Amino acid sequence: MTSSRGLFERARELFPGGVNSPVRAAVKPQPFFVEDAHGARITTTDGDELIDWVMGYGPLILGHRNGKVLARVREQLEKGWLYGAPSRTELELAEKILRYYGPGMVRFVNSGTEATLTAIRLARAYTRRRILVKFEGCYHGSNDSLLVKAGSSALHYGVPTSMGVPEELAALTIVLPYNDIEAFMDAMGRVGEKVAAVIVEPVAANMGLVLPKEGFLETIKEEAKKAGALLVFDEVVTGFRLGLGGAQGEFGVKPDVTTLGKVIGGGFPIGAVAAGKDLMMELSPSGPAFNAGTFNAHPVSMAAGLATIEALEEGWPYRIADEAAGDVAEELGRIAEDKGLDVTVNRLASMLQIFFTEGPIRDYSDVARSDKGKYGRMQEAMAEAGVFIPPSQFETWFASAAHTEECVMKTVEAARRALVH
Ligand SMILES: Cc1ncc(COP(=O)(O)O)c(C=O)c1O
Repeated sequence: MTSSRGLFERARELFPGGVNSPVRAAVKPQPFFVEDAHGARITTTDGDELIDWVMGYGPLILGHRNGKVLARVREQLEKGWLYGAPSRTELELAEKILRYYGPGMVRFVNSGTEATLTAIRLARAYTRRRILVKFEGCYHGSNDSLLVKAGSSALHYGVPTSMGVPEELAALTIVLPYNDIEAFMDAMGRVGEKVAAVIVEPVAANMGLVLPKEGFLETIKEEAKKAGALLVFDEVVTGFRLGLGGAQGEFGVKPDVTTLGKVIGGGFPIGAVAAGKDLMMELSPSGPAFNAGTFNAHPVSMAAGLATIEALEEGWPYRIADEAAGDVAEELGRIAEDKGLDVTVNRLASMLQIFFTEGPIRDYSDVARSDKGKYGRMQEAMAEAGVFIPPSQFETWFASAAHTEECVMKTVEAARRALVH
């Protein structure tokens, strides 16, 4: 049986929830299986062609099966794909990253989760402190220390969002509302000298898309510095996505540590930590903070990442992707207005999300007001009309350099039918 329905039945016996990452199970009317993908389109095992606004949840900024990335990966495969020893491409990719996120050094790992895990270990080692500060609605991968939500005490010491995370560990993480400068200043005033790191998505892409309000990033940088805590920008999504310089380039605020992933691997598994040399020298083998990995700096990911960044440096991929996202966002707003729907669309560069509530959408509590049922119904109707959008309100739509005007038109047509009261 090769229908998605049949395959999903089989998958349910093999994997918890039938999938290997939870959001994939949320796709309605039911998760589809992919046979092939090219440009901005996915073909399912059922033979349906879908315009893809998920793009692997962010990495595929050049589109599926980009020719330049494919050629570089093939070239690498011809030379072997795992050495357990350094290869030249890792130097080239690190130099590219440091051109935009440096000066300093890099450690390559295999996922965004590992990047944030390594960044917070590094920060704790460097500062000899234990407390972390994060923001509600920001996601930093499936690390124990960051799978935490605000507890009920005034200081918002965290409680686990997942069974299996020890409460004692979660209690070392303070969770504050995103974009709330006062709450941050208050918390830092009380416990700042114990804080090892403040970690933030400088543009939040895991509660839909939420932009930092003016002064937010500047304030957390200033206050973290005053307290002797390190500022970590989690740019796993935004790095090389919002532009070559990511969110720090867009907003002109430089963190102490940057975590990267997604785009820098061109669709292959990757994560990276970039920071100043004195800090990075804390990492093993030069320093006492441990990190290692069989697949760290995997040659295929290095090759794909390098090809991707070289293409991005030509500028045109950003122009196309940003314009596609801009056009869709504008049209979604127009359709909602024509139909008298209470909808807010947030968009930045090639990322967007639609919320079924009045704006502005500035933090998790705003997102929580959005009608998730309506979003789910929209996703299902869009899928039926041949358009794949993220199945969760908390994800973000990603445009790519392969999203043509025709893709935009078809998406807008589908949305006109899908958006109902
Ligand atoms: C901001 C952010 N940080 C970290 C991660 C974790 O990355 P990965 O899924 O590669 O482990 C994600 C994943 O979506 C993310 O959005």
